[in-house]
Amino acid sequence: MSEKKSAKIVTIFNQKGGAGKTTTTCQVAGTFGHRGYDVLVADLDKQNSASKWVSAGGDTPFPASLWSGHMYKGNIATELGKLAEKYDLIFIDCAPAVDQPGTWASLLVSDLAIIPTKLGPADTDALHDAFELAKKARRQAGFDFPVRVLATAYRKARSDERLALERLVLNDAYPEFPALKTSLGDRLAFTRSMLYGATAHSMPKSGEAIAELESVADEITALLGMPKKKKAK
Ligand SMILES: Nc1ncnc2c1ncn2[C@@H]1O[C@H](COP(=O)(O)OP(=O)(O)O)[C@@H](O)[C@H]1O
Ligand SMILES: [Mg+2]
Repeated sequence: MSEKKSAKIVTIFNQKGGAGKTTTTCQVAGTFGHRGYDVLVADLDKQNSASKWVSAGGDTPFPASLWSGHMYKGNIATELGKLAEKYDLIFIDCAPAVDQPGTWASLLVSDLAIIPTKLGPADTDALHDAFELAKKARRQAGFDFPVRVLATAYRKARSDERLALERLVLNDAYPEFPALKTSLGDRLAFTRSMLYGATAHSMPKSGEAIAELESVADEITALLGMPKKKKAK
């Protein structure tokens, strides 16, 4: 008989398309799957990118289940509540627009929200909308769930990107929403693994990519107050 669970819900959102939401969702959700947690990827984007990734059918199955939530016409919050009884963690890949009802519903039931972003000026300028939505959702939820920025496709050899990242770590305008200490570098292992329905863990010569994912997962477990590894069943 399976135990009744109460998943921690992590919403990955950003106003901007191409910010790294889907890549981050699949890589990080899969990292927790590799750690032995029961993980669900909830795809709220009608472009279906996370669904395609999780069900690409490589040599080994993707280490998380999939819920194509954007096809669901009912109340997303209610459905997430039901799904939470079956998983340890739910990662929600949102559509690229913060005014989507799915994004709002997800934020209201979130234990943590992550805002992936690239580090160009147009990318970081667009964060304002995401921060405002997070603020509104925390007020409405009556719960100051943690919200963190995650730099994606980071090129540390570039001084403009290093500076942009430093600014996001401090986040003067929204100090309650700092960047995670870890960022995800600009790496082929993160993008190629999509073709194999896998995470970077399955790719050759991907040690640095894996180290970044493990470090992001450690930061998330700390923010959620979870044990680093799931105990043996
Ligand atoms: N860490 C990364 N390294 C290299 N390329 C990345 C990384 N994250 C995202 N990308 C690329 O950026 C583009 C947009 O990423 P995606 O995850 O689809 O963003 P979103 O879901 O926010 O639209 C894709 O081409 C993806 O392969
Ligand atoms: Mg996407």
